[in-house]
Amino acid sequence: MRTYVAAILADIHVGSMFALWPRGFPDSRGGSYFLNAGQQYLEGIWAEGLKVCPPLDLLLFNGDVIDGEQYHQRKRYLVDPNIECQTDAAEVLLKPWVDKLKPTGALYWTKGTKYHENGGSAWVSTLARRLGAVPDKLGDFTRFWLNLDIDGVKMDMAHRQSFFMRYRSTPLERELDFDITQGELKEGVADLVIRSHVHKFHVVADELRQAVSTPGWQLQTEFAVQSVSPNRIGPRRLGFVLLYITPHKKERGLLPIRIEPVTFPHPRLEVEHASIGKTSGGNAANP
Ligand SMILES: [Fe+2]
Ligand SMILES: [Fe+2]
Repeated sequence: MRTYVAAILADIHVGSMFALWPRGFPDSRGGSYFLNAGQQYLEGIWAEGLKVCPPLDLLLFNGDVIDGEQYHQRKRYLVDPNIECQTDAAEVLLKPWVDKLKPTGALYWTKGTKYHENGGSAWVSTLARRLGAVPDKLGDFTRFWLNLDIDGVKMDMAHRQSFFMRYRSTPLERELDFDITQGELKEGVADLVIRSHVHKFHVVADELRQAVSTPGWQLQTEFAVQSVSPNRIGPRRLGFVLLYITPHKKERGLLPIRIEPVTFPHPRLEVEHASIGKTSGGNAANP
């Protein structure tokens, strides 16, 4: 009974100061950049993730590999706003994951959001080509929507999903329902729907079908703290998802894919201990 192993990585956001940057990688202005404390933490868990990732039959990059131009924040939180530099840095980071592919394996790649990747979509597609992604029929190395058949097991992958702060099963249930309405257009409904963008791992399953939301690799951003209230949308865990795909199980009426998250904790948030009520001296403002 053949089982294929796949890994899904998404929302890596290379270029963000809250995300990975290759140590020592030069910026586009001829300078060098020192990793901040958060990036050093990410560097460690990225290496740990690579270590535990088994040899792969399938590697899936599901969008927002780069952070893009960040015009809402006037590029304030970018390591480097140059998209060519961001994609070059992403190549250094992603190459060891591509090296996890067996000689018979394949890399597929979807596009991220307009906000993060559209301005650099040609750069991202070029990066996908350089890393050996399978092109679509039009010759694009990144897709908006990937419908993939693996010996009869059908997967439907796209970057975006609706964002619910609570009731996180609901968007995935909706995706499974919407997929039924599209099934006849694409050789049958999906056994697994894969969505990203919300940076949180979650699974919804019934007897025959599953939907998974992937974690990301970006630390809590300024946007996450300021968009509504600081405790709403920041990630608790970071990492990726492994899939064990056994087509023979589907023939027996069983779920054909086992989903295994590989995640690491978000660093603890800073708690400030008030320096008041002490008798030994003054304070910073009035020593
Ligand atoms: Fe993202
Ligand atoms: Fe996204």
